[in-house]
Amino acid sequence: AAAEKGAFKHFMLKEIFEQPEVMKRALEGRISQGHLLEQAWGVGASAYFDQVKQVQIVACGTSYHAGMIARYWIESIVGIPCNVEVASEFRYRDVVLPQNTLLITLSQSGETADTLAALREVKQRVLASLAICNVPGSSLVRESDLALMTNAGPEIGVASTKAFTSQLVALLMTTLILARRTGLKPEQEAQIVEALIGLPTLIQSLLSLNDSIAKMAEAFAEKHHALFLGRGTLYPVAMEGALKLKEISYIHAEAYPAGELKHGPLALVDKDMPVVAVAPNNDMLDKLKSNLQEVRARGGELFVFTGCEQSIRDEEGVTTLTLPAVHPLLEPLAYTLPLQLLSYHVAVLKGTDVDQPRNLAKSVTVE
Ligand code: G6P
Repeated sequence: AAAEKGAFKHFMLKEIFEQPEVMKRALEGRISQGHLLEQAWGVGASAYFDQVKQVQIVACGTSYHAGMIARYWIESIVGIPCNVEVASEFRYRDVVLPQNTLLITLSQSGETADTLAALREVKQRVLASLAICNVPGSSLVRESDLALMTNAGPEIGVASTKAFTSQLVALLMTTLILARRTGLKPEQEAQIVEALIGLPTLIQSLLSLNDSIAKMAEAFAEKHHALFLGRGTLYPVAMEGALKLKEISYIHAEAYPAGELKHGPLALVDKDMPVVAVAPNNDMLDKLKSNLQEVRARGGELFVFTGCEQSIRDEEGVTTLTLPAVHPLLEPLAYTLPLQLLSYHVAVLKGTDVDQPRNLAKSVTVE
């Protein structure tokens, strides 16, 4: 197995650096002349998609965070209701599923016990089930009406990285396919598809932040807690960043939607609690900036991934890292990369078992 890591010290780092290639594979065979090929979703997919009135997403762990991001996309671009829930709750609850619900299960492995059980529980009550999955022939794929493979390739590191970003690509493509039915114009689709085609290059350029992030990680290695903040689609990105950090560095990390800061977490902020913010240059930036000022006023040390050098500057207690400007729909993909690298480098500094964190399994196949 050591050989398969190639020049990389850990599978996780190898898998992070594979992401430009993974983005390419996630798009392969799904695009022709600037438009998505609907047949890639499976036989009969088009007829199902014509009837969808609402979407229910079910997943666990990192896959759940991908689902949370998709909810923002589906409600804003398709304009139909979308619910997202962790499978372990969904499967045991009396769930109300309106007519013509499309069930989307998200899973790297396709074998997560709760996600599989959730599918079996409601299969007969939904219009169709779509599995977005990385393992062909897995139980989830076999038992769903439709499947879209993420094609990320085998993921060895227990902490999911490339599987997550490839799920986001699959979810964004699925969003566009549904939005065709609710008014997305071919030229609008073509414009977003063009942004997707630029993903491998974008991700490649983000990887060059690796050294700066490794340096930033030094500020976390001795800390016991960290807080991650974001708004909109960047809120689930913050959740995923916090999950990565706790999984592999064992630092207690929590994510909050930045607007909730005053409703509790601000009480915890002091110099020993680093606060990470994902702050692209979008229409929520001003709101987020005032949240960050509240953190600074309490002596919290800020680490901000920003899309605009001018708007948030390095100063005492504020370390910024500027990302290139990206299409708004690609922000969650772009801002995930530096958070993956941050948790990786913190774990390496702490000397933990990066690829095999204690007490965790790659795939939770028993409840
Ligand atoms: C485990 C893994 C996570 C993963 C989750 C869901 O907790 O350690 O990395 O996100 O299961 O797995 P799935 O295969 O369904 O995406």
